[in-house]
Amino acid sequence: MNIAVVGAQWGDEGKGKIVDLLARRFSIVARYQGGHNAGHTVHVGGRRFVLRLIPSGILHQGVTCVIGNGVVVDLAALFDEVDGLAGAGIGVDGRLLISDRAHVILPYHPDLDRLREASLGPRMIGTTSRGIGPAYEDKAGRRGLRVCDLADAAALEEHIRDGLARRNELARDGRLAWTDVFDRTRQLGERLKPWIADVSAVLCAAMADGRSILFEGAQGTMLDLDHGTYPYVTSSNATVGGACTGLGIGPRSIHVVLGIAKAYTTRVGEGPFPSELHGGDGDALRAKGGEFGTVTGRPRRCGWFDAVQMRHAVRVNGFDALAVTKLDVLDGFERVPVCVGYRLDGEAVSAFPADLGRLRRCTPVLESCPGWNRPTSGVQRYDDLPANAQAYLQRLEDLAGVPVVFASTGAAREDIVVKNAPLAAAWFGSELA
Ligand code: IMP
Repeated sequence: MNIAVVGAQWGDEGKGKIVDLLARRFSIVARYQGGHNAGHTVHVGGRRFVLRLIPSGILHQGVTCVIGNGVVVDLAALFDEVDGLAGAGIGVDGRLLISDRAHVILPYHPDLDRLREASLGPRMIGTTSRGIGPAYEDKAGRRGLRVCDLADAAALEEHIRDGLARRNELARDGRLAWTDVFDRTRQLGERLKPWIADVSAVLCAAMADGRSILFEGAQGTMLDLDHGTYPYVTSSNATVGGACTGLGIGPRSIHVVLGIAKAYTTRVGEGPFPSELHGGDGDALRAKGGEFGTVTGRPRRCGWFDAVQMRHAVRVNGFDALAVTKLDVLDGFERVPVCVGYRLDGEAVSAFPADLGRLRRCTPVLESCPGWNRPTSGVQRYDDLPANAQAYLQRLEDLAGVPVVFASTGAAREDIVVKNAPLAAAWFGSELA
């Protein structure tokens, strides 16, 4: 049984925790898109790990982690992460593979990212400044550098000279010398060699051997280049389709699609967000939920759960079920509103609009759910949740139109309740159910 884990909102849903929880039931965890703009936080044994490029399965010995061709790889960031894990006693040798077809983020890509943002003024996207967009632009423009090209010194030199010429033309803060960038990239490329693989072939052989794979998405559905709030999106397909193109697997290899959704909604960066709260409850959610970007430290915008947005995510991904995270952050609220629809110019809107002008004018229709008088924080059995917290999860399930299989009640691996034991048993084994 292979499963895809996909963010159902604007990223930061807690995918890292769910992937870590499920990973030891799988032989391989494979990341299919994005880059080190992601920040997957996992708390294990009182320690906090932030994984940006390396799949969250790496914390389980015996799990092989794979970075697919759909990912853009910043080599320095990758090795920082590898060295950080080694410092914590977690070795990756023999357990980490990088696709030969993955594109490389070069040192001028973050500069181009920042320069572009600065040129946009009030229309800026609010990117993570990691060079993600420019690297994917080079890929789509057929001038990108792939991992397999690192060994070819002449091709590498040409790429770096071209890229730096573009960067140096735009930047006013001094020129970067191509030789420095070239030497550094060559060194990192040498270090990468033992891990380079034809990932599609590796995954297909593993499946033929009966080994199971967890496909790990980064960011979230509403940041997807095609299905998100374009242009306020990232430059890759975070939705489940990205797993096929970003790893070289067929659609029938994905048996279950699990959406990860926060019990409320957050977003970092610019762009429309219909259920956003300004001040008051929004500030309370941010403070209680620790809603600050793992990668950039930026405060996240916070709002109530949005069922219109969620139904869009369920449809474009074909979610089989949801895992709801951070339920405990809602402890202490007297009422927990949920956005059940939008109104636009006096009319009800039931489908998430593509047109940002229309989307910006939508106002949320809120339904108020009663809060709960006992904390859910750290609860590990569904039956031990307060009745109103159970009713809240049930309401999310009814609104989303797919079952909620798990809900997480804290940062630790064990802070999780199973709402749908038959599904959990069928997909992940009886131990989790
Ligand atoms: P980029 O991916 O750095 O180009 O940023 C594009 C948009 O996606 C910005 O709004 C970022 O804040 C957002 N973004 C990118 N990665 C993440 C993530 O992992 N979590 C949440 N938002 C993200």
